[in-house]
Amino acid sequence: MTPSRIAARVRRIKPSPSTSAADRANELRRQGRSIVNLVVGEPDFDTPPHIRQAAAAAIEKGATRYTLMAGTVELRQAIAAKLERENGLRYAMNEIIATSGAKSAIYNAFAVTLEPGDEVIIPAPYWVSYPDMVLACEGTPVTVACPETDGFKLTPAQLESAITPRTRWLLINSPSNPTGASYTGAEYRALAQVLERHPHVMVMTDDIYEHIRFDGEATPHILAAAPALRERTLVVNGVSKTYAMTGWRIGYAAGPADLVKALDTLLSQSTGNCCSVSQAAAAAALNGDQSFVAESVAIYKQRRDRTLALVNGIPGLHCTAPPGAFYLYIHCGA
Ligand SMILES: Cc1ncc(COP(=O)(O)O)c(C=O)c1O
Repeated sequence: MTPSRIAARVRRIKPSPSTSAADRANELRRQGRSIVNLVVGEPDFDTPPHIRQAAAAAIEKGATRYTLMAGTVELRQAIAAKLERENGLRYAMNEIIATSGAKSAIYNAFAVTLEPGDEVIIPAPYWVSYPDMVLACEGTPVTVACPETDGFKLTPAQLESAITPRTRWLLINSPSNPTGASYTGAEYRALAQVLERHPHVMVMTDDIYEHIRFDGEATPHILAAAPALRERTLVVNGVSKTYAMTGWRIGYAAGPADLVKALDTLLSQSTGNCCSVSQAAAAAALNGDQSFVAESVAIYKQRRDRTLALVNGIPGLHCTAPPGAFYLYIHCGA
């Protein structure tokens, strides 16, 4: 048998199921089929006009060249201002890096920290990409089943028993894809008490759905609940979901300077800076009028309530109301 020319770390992973299914749906659409595509987590709204205009203005002004690797000063200032305004978190310029989507921030954070066999605790159900990203970086995903009876959330006891000397990261995604589960400040404090006993465990918090929640409350942040974790936490977020900007590919990470520097180094040797025009658009999104956010969340809530009523009317299916994100995680078991 001819040995594979593809490296083992890539043979270990599978293509993103959601991306593959979306590609197939798009292909069928191109062939003229009428497809309702419910595959990827993507707002169906257009990016708000003031953001599109900021991008057009950036092109006209000649912002079409390489930027600083970590992102333009304007974008990183907008990110710092957002983190302080919305999350009460203060980060300096050298603690923030813009990436080509949150996906790139997460993958590259694993790439710069995981030695072969290092473990990443992933509460399940989870976003389909997490385990494969860990595998691609030669780490070991440790998934912990979080049943509906616990609100699909990791308990302190589960965390304690999942931690080993090889644990590198605990991954938190709140509100979560696919359940919408959102941790409270008290739940974060209880998890933090466990983490206090295990200083070698870092925390990655994927906040991409923080604004999409249906109770009108602000999403609690683990670092607001447990500020002592700051030196071992990487905050990951982006503009894709909040501002209907999935195609612009802007995410970011904020965390300890050494970790951000390592991301900067690796990205400088791989993708380079993220798109200059998109960076201008993202800065406008973060600094500008925020009314789109509340308007779109109100529409998501109507849709959630309507689809929930329809799904729960189907014999054999059952779904509890997700408090956030834009998915229904439907129970179809016995
Ligand atoms: C939980 C979660 N994190 C990150 C991402 C990726 O976001 P981005 O478009 O910023 O790469 C997604 C996209 O579906 C997601 O569901």
